Amino acid sequence: MHLEVTNLKGKYYITTAIAYTSGKPHIGNTYEAILADSMARFYRLDGYDVRFQTGTDEHGQKIEEKAKNANKTPQQFVDGVASEIRDIWDMVGVSYDKFIRTTDNDHVKTVQRIFKKLYEQGDIYKGSYEGWYCTPCESFWTESQLKDGKCPDCGREVKKANEEAYFFKMSKYADRLMKYYEDNPDFIVPVSRKNEMVNNFLKPGLQDLCVSRSSFKWGIPVDFDDKHVVYVWLDALTNYITGLGYTADGNDDQLYKDYWPCNVHVVGKDIVRFHTIYWPIFLMALDIPLPKQVYGHGWLLQEGGKMSKSKGNVIYADDLVKFFGKDAVRYYVLTAMPHDNDGIITWESVIETINSDLANVFGNLVSRTIAMSNKYFDGKVENTNVKEAIDQELKDVATSAYAKVSKKMGEYKISDAISEIMSIFRRANKYIDETAPWVLAKEESNRGRLATVLYNLVETLSIGLALLTPFIPDTCKKAFDMLGVTARDYQDLDKFGLTETTKVTATPEILFARLDSAKVMEQVNKMIEEKNKEQAKPQVQLHDHSLKPQIEIDDFAKVQLKIAKVIACEKIEKSKKLLKLTVQLGEETRTVVSGIALAYSPEYLIGKKLMMVTNLKPCKLCGIMSEGMIVCAENDKGELAFLTPERDIEDGSQVF
Ligand code: ME8
Ligand code: MG
Repeated sequence: MHLEVTNLKGKYYITTAIAYTSGKPHIGNTYEAILADSMARFYRLDGYDVRFQTGTDEHGQKIEEKAKNANKTPQQFVDGVASEIRDIWDMVGVSYDKFIRTTDNDHVKTVQRIFKKLYEQGDIYKGSYEGWYCTPCESFWTESQLKDGKCPDCGREVKKANEEAYFFKMSKYADRLMKYYEDNPDFIVPVSRKNEMVNNFLKPGLQDLCVSRSSFKWGIPVDFDDKHVVYVWLDALTNYITGLGYTADGNDDQLYKDYWPCNVHVVGKDIVRFHTIYWPIFLMALDIPLPKQVYGHGWLLQEGGKMSKSKGNVIYADDLVKFFGKDAVRYYVLTAMPHDNDGIITWESVIETINSDLANVFGNLVSRTIAMSNKYFDGKVENTNVKEAIDQELKDVATSAYAKVSKKMGEYKISDAISEIMSIFRRANKYIDETAPWVLAKEESNRGRLATVLYNLVETLSIGLALLTPFIPDTCKKAFDMLGVTARDYQDLDKFGLTETTKVTATPEILFARLDSAKVMEQVNKMIEEKNKEQAKPQVQLHDHSLKPQIEIDDFAKVQLKIAKVIACEKIEKSKKLLKLTVQLGEETRTVVSGIALAYSPEYLIGKKLMMVTNLKPCKLCGIMSEGMIVCAENDKGELAFLTPERDIEDGSQVF
């Protein structure tokens, strides 16, 4: 569907955060792209000249390490993940105008120029850092900033760091930033997140920010001092202007002049700080106007809390799409997320929402309208203008929706906007019950009225579908086609009676079939089980399988076997086969080096209970003292299975 835009309302530049290419994005990251996409689509239809940018954040130590573990160069690694991310965005219909990668050459060059410029004008200076470093967050902390000796942001272990580094004079701009907050009370949405920024960061005073790293290589080199790479956040945030062709050398692209400053950065709550403190300050230093708004959305969580690979509870968009189709997935995540809080996703709740909203309310209305038009008028729908008082309420609901939806969208209340649209469909279903077309059809004298009733339904649907298009575009297009109506212009959403005589399809397709939850869940669980099996799939590494001579019971009794719980596990860098496990044996914690790296990922093992020989003489493997041995079964193909207790039993329990 393409709407002729006749009345441009102005430019609208919207961005998502750029996703880390550290691994496949889950449905939470994907939600953000869908959210921003629905806004971009809404404003395009509403007559704005929209530019929508998304992309990938590809530098940093974490990615360097992931690449090494995958036996790839960082560039090979990020190429793979970035294309996987882009495929997922495409699969859920993210209609970006630009997909930027921070490894793009023009981005790299501009970041280098910016760094140099800031250094030359004195906002960046060289110093040295002594403190603590959190690798996953790529952040430095002072002793006093640590929380119980751990990273105050993510709670993980920190490493001692002592580096020569470049620093940015944050505090120099703090007052100007505070003033910007005051002059632009809607800069940070929702307001609760703004208060957090002011109280937790601005009021206590900003520290100078370390903006270079020299402990790893995978970053944009500081071109005048190549021992250093640019801090990944300075690199990443800049994407919003480099993606428009800002070059920092006076040759900026027209796109940049047209679309900057951006209307909104859509980001998750965890990175609001980077977008509302660091980013505006970098921009002030560069003498560039600040973004108009930052919307910090909540997180989409699993029932048990955060999604994590080690918990094995990650939900991915492509799996959801396989089961339910992309529009159902879009609809679910957009309606499940409140404006200023976290939302929950479970497979069951997706099924419920599809059945209640999309099948019962929306799909049902479309199919009833088409079926009755076919049955009573051979598909022809015509406005015979036989009005009754009861029509007014339906018309009012339909024609007042645009203003309400538009207001909600402007406030980033997407789920509320969608629920306004659903109330049009609910009202129309009620209208069918009130007017009872099947009763009207019994009397020839009611034909005129019956035609008007069906017309009113089609006209109402035309308004509702236009409004629903940004959220579930493909389905709405299908519905428009089935109704024989062209997509309605947003300027005409407050008018009733514009649709001309039309003919609905004789062979309607069911837009959303009702799902049998138990049946679907059976398939879902099967898929999850297979995935977990796949993850644990053993690989060939045969041991000695020859028969051993008979032994006495006393020989066996010499072997001490216990149940151990894996509490931490990691790959050993120098070896392909070895994993370093930290296990709990009741009160005791031990380190074990085990040759099972080809069969099991560290993530899979964490939390598992397994059988272990605990009285083997400790020995050093790859420089690590191993204090025991994991017991595994091995078949002729060399496939491994470790042994777990048949029911849960305390770690440290003895095996006889
Ligand atoms: O933070 N629910 O990248 P990222 C909703 N590269 N949103 C979620 C989420 C969840 N469960 N988990 C993450 C980064 N997000 C940086 C951004 S921008 C210059 C650099 C959101 O891949 C998260 O809040 O970790 C962020 O906005 C986005 O997904 C990408 O997260
Ligand atoms: Mg993150």
